[in-house]
Amino acid sequence: MTRSRSFRQAHRWLAMTFTVTVVIVTASGALGGPEWVSYISLPPLAVLLVTGLYLFALPYRARSRTGAT
Ligand code: HEM
Repeated sequence: MTRSRSFRQAHRWLAMTFTVTVVIVTASGALGGPEWVSYISLPPLAVLLVTGLYLFALPYRARSRTGAT
């Protein structure tokens, strides 16, 4: 598997993980759960940011490699 494919795959699955954590945080907040639960979305969001920025840069990297404008 190429690096860009594995980054896209990781981004896709982390999006699902992140969405589940947001549902958990919302439910926990509504039910008066502990405060630390509100932070569980941050690790997947941090990795989403890194993989997302990589995916964003891909087309520009490819263009500069081929010399196309
Ligand atoms: C945190 C900063 C994020 C950045 C910078 C970012 C950036 C990107 C970029 C550049 C792409 C590729 C678009 C393309 O195909 O050209 C992408 C795809 C995608 N993003 Fe994000 N994203 C972020 C967060 C999220 C979040 C929070 C979610 C959902 C909870 C999400 C869900 C997705 C999905 C499902 C795709 C399509 C993946 C695929 O092609 O299989 N992203 N994102």
